[in-house]
Amino acid sequence: MKAMVYTQYGPPEVLQLKEVPKPEPRDDQVLVKVQAASINALDYRRFEKLSSMGRIMEKVLFKSTNKVLGADIAGRVEAVGANVRQFQPGDEVFGVATGSIGGFAEYACASEDRLALKPSNLSFEAAAAVPVAALTALQGLRDKGQIQAGQKVLINGASGGVGTFAVQIAKAIETEVTAVCSTRNLDMARSSGADHVIDYTKEDFTPNGQRYDLIFAVNGYHPLSAYRRALSPLGRYVCAGGALSQIFQAMLLGPLMSVTGGKKMGFMWITKPNQQDLLHLGQLLETGKIVPVIEQCYPLGEVTAAMQYLATGHARGKVVVQISA
Ligand SMILES: NC(=O)c1ccc[n+]([C@@H]2O[C@H](COP(=O)([O-])OP(=O)(O)OC[C@H]3O[C@@H](n4cnc5c(N)ncnc54)[C@H](OP(=O)(O)O)[C@@H]3O)[C@@H](O)[C@H]2O)c1
Repeated sequence: MKAMVYTQYGPPEVLQLKEVPKPEPRDDQVLVKVQAASINALDYRRFEKLSSMGRIMEKVLFKSTNKVLGADIAGRVEAVGANVRQFQPGDEVFGVATGSIGGFAEYACASEDRLALKPSNLSFEAAAAVPVAALTALQGLRDKGQIQAGQKVLINGASGGVGTFAVQIAKAIETEVTAVCSTRNLDMARSSGADHVIDYTKEDFTPNGQRYDLIFAVNGYHPLSAYRRALSPLGRYVCAGGALSQIFQAMLLGPLMSVTGGKKMGFMWITKPNQQDLLHLGQLLETGKIVPVIEQCYPLGEVTAAMQYLATGHARGKVVVQISA
């Protein structure tokens, strides 16, 4: 099969389109003929930025060079392992592919519990845009953020992959949503349901006197103290990404700043792919409560260009890779 393969560490330019053996599903796995995949930062950052020591450790522990990347997949079930009960060949599915045999390829394997049936109203491209970004938004808001109907929620970085889902999921939970994005994305944020929009190129929301019950920080940077100031007395701050300094502050200082007072400052370590949450997202997608925002689709041979675009940090919604027609 054709696949975009990382044969060495480095930037997306080192990816090569190669013929590689079609993967064999293990007993608990499903082999999917991939129709579309989508790109997340995790698909390239580890290979691009890892230190020499990190590379050696990774090679020893995970034997993970020569990889097909691409976590998010949507496609048709081609074959199932002996212990798979929920899927059969021909089923249309979406979900998260397994480690070293990812979605930038004509076939990928996924554990049964990381897949769900694709909502029938969604194209494969739209379904492929969902898994990691929407799971991150859902788990960040619901599990770390403990979001409740009626709350005031602010999403910083509302126009990217995670942010566009976060705005819509927060609205589906009937909260009052403020979306922070740049000028060109204000209309999109409004049409995704945001009640208020703030243009970060013109206004800093942290000193403006508004208080939020939940701040979900996905992109950009503000000092942790500034986020804390913008929280209501029992408010929560959840950092899922953004500038490295934002992430380190949330990881290291967040727990300390949560000891006194009612405000909680937290960091979301890693998204946990699971079928239950994919099914929940599937319902929201089927009822139109969330609609994937896709800026661009690239063919398989142009995954490098797609990754380079995502790495600019200014993609709108998701960047999708079309594998099969
Ligand atoms: N914890 C986890 O498990 C997990 C999982 C997935 C992702 N993440 C992290 O979450 C972050 C977001 O991921 P993503 O896929 O949404 O990224 P993305 O799609 O690359 O985000 C791009 C968006 O960020 C916006 N943006 C850039 N600078 C901004 C700023 N200063 N303030 C507000 N918005 C800004 C851009 O809007 P403009 O063009 O308008 O500037 C663009 O729409 C990344 O750091 C990623 O690593 C974490």
